[in-house]
Amino acid sequence: MERTFIMIKPDGVQRNLVGAIISRFEAKGYKLVAMKFMRLTEEQAREHYKEHVDKPFFAGLLEYITSGPVVAMVWEGKDVVAAARQMMGKTNPLEAQPGTIRGDYGLDIGRNVIHGADSVESAEREIKIYFDEDEILSYEKTMESWLYE
Ligand code: RTP
Ligand code: MG
Repeated sequence: MERTFIMIKPDGVQRNLVGAIISRFEAKGYKLVAMKFMRLTEEQAREHYKEHVDKPFFAGLLEYITSGPVVAMVWEGKDVVAAARQMMGKTNPLEAQPGTIRGDYGLDIGRNVIHGADSVESAEREIKIYFDEDEILSYEKTMESWLYE
């Protein structure tokens, strides 16, 4: 099964959206296999967003993402990387469709509530920044035959 890395950003935590966001992934049928409530170090933030190091928004992004606690999670299930990106909506919340997380909960590109890995490779890379392999749980859920044919 595919895995993705999802993070509720500091604004999502401050705005009490943790439960609402986790509920969407649970209700869709995805399986939570790891979760950590944590504050990113500058080193972790730089590693996470290293593809953006030369962008004009990088300094602001680092400040934002390290400004308070986040919820780092690994979710598992069918096509979860692409599906999670669809559930999140476009990067700019004003362009994100209503019904998506950013579309429903955000207003500003620099306060867009949630991060999700953009490919299977990115997910694997990002998961390693936040979790040791033994922190990712393997377990059965009895509802699986009601989710997958
Ligand atoms: P993320 O990595 O956080 O899931 O977001 P994304 O793939 O949708 O967007 P990406 O291009 O990877 O940008 C990473 C984060 O940087 C901030 N950003 N600010 N001010 C700007 O023009 C700007 N552009 C990007 C956002 O917080 C974005 O999520
Ligand atoms: Mg990205």
